[in-house]
Amino acid sequence: MNGSLAANEALLGELLQGLGQPGCDVAVAVPAVYMGQVQALLQGSAIALAAQDVSAHDGGAYTGEVSAPMLRDFAVRYALVGHSERRQYHGETDALVATKAQKALAAGITPIVCVGETLAEREAGQTEAVVKRQLAAVIHAVGACVTEIVVAYEPVWAIGTGKTASPEQAQAVHAVLRAQLAAASTQAAKVPVLYGGSMNAGNAEQLLAQPDIDGGLIGGASLKAQDFLKIIAAAA
Ligand code: PGA
Repeated sequence: MNGSLAANEALLGELLQGLGQPGCDVAVAVPAVYMGQVQALLQGSAIALAAQDVSAHDGGAYTGEVSAPMLRDFAVRYALVGHSERRQYHGETDALVATKAQKALAAGITPIVCVGETLAEREAGQTEAVVKRQLAAVIHAVGACVTEIVVAYEPVWAIGTGKTASPEQAQAVHAVLRAQLAAASTQAAKVPVLYGGSMNAGNAEQLLAQPDIDGGLIGGASLKAQDFLKIIAAAA
């Protein structure tokens, strides 16, 4: 929940100025209320538009919700589903997250499925079980469309805390997720698995060098154009 009309314009202006032709896919995940503004600012650029959440319903009496077809009206290409803050503060369950992924796909939007363990779960040795359970719910719900999703591993203890998973810790979990995807579909090698959680201009290169880390889901560091540009360059 960052940004304002003025801040969005300044941030995206600086980003577009420094971007050139990026060697990787770049998207910005925008609060729903700014979709129209940011769609216009990004027109004809190499940056795609993403939403931070999407409703599990198509429309109707769900006051306050934003549906996938509504997002599609603004040419939204991606939607985060199951970000840990949605799971934690809004009680989103694995089943709800799976439904959101289905709704996004049905509207032609690629869901970026976020999974990750809390500190307590890591310390209890449950990391693998937790991320596999979270991803399994989505795999089960989307069936053959599993090849159309993006996965993001975001250890909850690393989000917004300045604590990053070490490249080895992240790689170990990414390998688990990759194997789970491969078991679900022979085509799943093409599913990008992103790392998120205090990725920044200083640590991006090392994290992105890991064999199963295909990209990043950037929070705080994406709010500074020059830092975000460095991360994009590291991913290219
Ligand atoms: P962070 O946030 O990069 O600030 O840790 C990541 C996220 O919220 O997905």
